[in-house]
Order: sequence, then structure tokens, then C-alpha cells
Amino acid sequence: MSSKAHAVGDPGPGSPGGLPNVDARQYRRTCAQFATGVTVVTTVDSDGHPHGLTVNSFSSVSLDPPLVLVSIDLRNAILGHFITSSAFAINVLGEDQEELSRRFSSTAENRFLGLDWTANASGVPLLSGVLAQLECAVVQTFEAGDHTVLIGEVRRARCEAGQPLVFFNSGYRQLK
Ligand SMILES: Cc1cc2nc3c(=O)[nH]c(=O)nc-3n(C[C@H](O)[C@H](O)[C@H](O)COP(=O)(O)O)c2cc1C
Repeated sequence: MSSKAHAVGDPGPGSPGGLPNVDARQYRRTCAQFATGVTVVTTVDSDGHPHGLTVNSFSSVSLDPPLVLVSIDLRNAILGHFITSSAFAINVLGEDQEELSRRFSSTAENRFLGLDWTANASGVPLLSGVLAQLECAVVQTFEAGDHTVLIGEVRRARCEAGQPLVFFNSGYRQLK
């Protein structure tokens, strides 16, 4: 075996990070062991129609300036509205709002039908009765793999006392 040869499982030359590729199923299973909250991220299109989807990729990025990110699948039907809009909101769900999470992770056309919500100054829908809410201006969007990362600067933040809805190991949980 020459010094250039690779053992079984070794990356070939040019493999990013010098590591072999992870198995896709194992990657998903492993990420699922990271417990997250559940949010509904909302925006408005140029005709004033509200849009939203369930997201657990929310993360705070920076304190000064206050920046957050969400990552949206390129195949998502409403992604275009987030890219063209200059604003979005993150609605953090409470433990009794699993139904809202299911509604906004469905492919239903009008996910806002019969819901209690108001529009902020930019027209972005703010869901009523959520645990926390961040109103953001879009400052950057970029593609990363099969998702678009949306960076928002937080312009307003409010929170209520209460318990969060938790997503862990592909299921909804409550803090006990
Ligand atoms: C708990 C949970 C978290 C989710 N997080 C994300 C996410 O971070 N990014 C994303 O693109 N989709 C996420 N989804 C999937 C979207 O909510 C779903 O694909 C979308 O609402 C489908 O509708 P559309 O393609 O018609 O917009 C999540 C779903 C669930 C149930």
C-alpha cells in the first residue's frame, strides 16, 4: 500500500473537511436527537396575502445587531414569498399549540382560515396567543445545499410566560 492509498471508509482526495460522507438516514436520525422549539414563520406577499409554515430551524445568530436565522427547503411552495418580502415574523408556539404546528406544516392552501391573527406595520401576520414573537426585517438570504437561509434583523420582540411546544425525535413533546 503506497502512502497515497486510502483505507476502507477513508475520504478520497477532495472530500470537504477530509471526512467521508455521512449516511443520509443516520444524519437525520442524529439531528432528531437535538430537541428544538416549534415556530410558525410568517410573511406577506405583494398582493397582501398571508403565508406561513412550521419551522424548527430557527436560531438566534447575533446579539448586536440582533440577528436570527431560519432555513427553508428550496422545494417549499411559499419560499419565494419569503425571498421577495422584506419582512417576516417568528411565532414561537406554546405547549398547547400542536394543532397550529400541524396546520402550518400541511400543504393546505389557506392555513390562516379561521385563525386569530393581526398584521404588523409591514403587513406580516402575527399569530395570537403564541409564547413569543419576533418581528424581523430581511437582511440576507442565501442558498445552502437544499435550503435557503434567511437572516433577519429583529425589530420587535415580545414574550409571554408559559411552556413551549417541543419537537424531539420526530415527535411533539412537552416539558415536564
Ligand atoms: C416540527 C416541524 C419543523 C419543521 N421545520 C422546517 C424548517 O425548519 N424548514 C422547512 O423548510 N420546513 C420545515 N418543516 C416542514 C414545513 O413546515 C412543510 O414542509 C411546509 O409547511 C409544507 O408546505 P408548502 O410546501 O406548501 O409550503 C417543518 C415541519 C415540522 C412538522
